[in-house]
Amino acid sequence: MSNEKQIDPRELRNAYGTFATGVTVITTTTPEGRREAITANSFSSVSLDPALLLWSIGRDSRSFDAFNGCDHFAIHVLGEDQQELSNRFASKDLTDKFAGFDIEEGIAGLPLLTDYCARFQCSIYNRYEGGDHIILVGRVLDYDTRENDPLVFHGGRYRRIA
Ligand SMILES: Cc1cc2nc3c(=O)[nH]c(=O)nc-3n(C[C@H](O)[C@H](O)[C@H](O)COP(=O)(O)O)c2cc1C
Repeated sequence: MSNEKQIDPRELRNAYGTFATGVTVITTTTPEGRREAITANSFSSVSLDPALLLWSIGRDSRSFDAFNGCDHFAIHVLGEDQQELSNRFASKDLTDKFAGFDIEEGIAGLPLLTDYCARFQCSIYNRYEGGDHIILVGRVLDYDTRENDPLVFHGGRYRRIA
């Protein structure tokens, strides 16, 4: 008999959701110069030397090809007052998620948001197969931090640090 529990994807998602995370918006530019962005809470720090971090993108995301094929990406750790921005960049409907935002140009033309707790500009270090996601490991080329309190995601809801 197998020791593997019968997995219900919705229950498993709820179990994953017990792990409180921050919220990030991750951006890149395609070789044709199109800006892409996605909200992600799969961010994790990995290594200090070399400076590495990771996140994962779902294969069913519209921006999957852009991130899977990119050389660089930028990660913005959101502040507690950036819930609306998180929803915007998680939207499946918007054609231009960046419309109306102040954007700075970063390394290799990366579109950078100007409001954040922390911002990391990365080159692709490695890609790993991860089931219905791809795991992207980035090498940190530059980073900035601010004194804001972070936005928190837990149990499928946004929260603030008390
Ligand atoms: C708080 C939060 C965290 C998310 N984390 C991830 C993630 O780590 N990876 C991912 O692929 N999608 C994640 N998503 C879902 C994407 O943001 C969402 O599917 C988005 O619409 C994809 O955009 P696209 O289809 O336009 O590329 C998250 C959504 C929210 C609201």
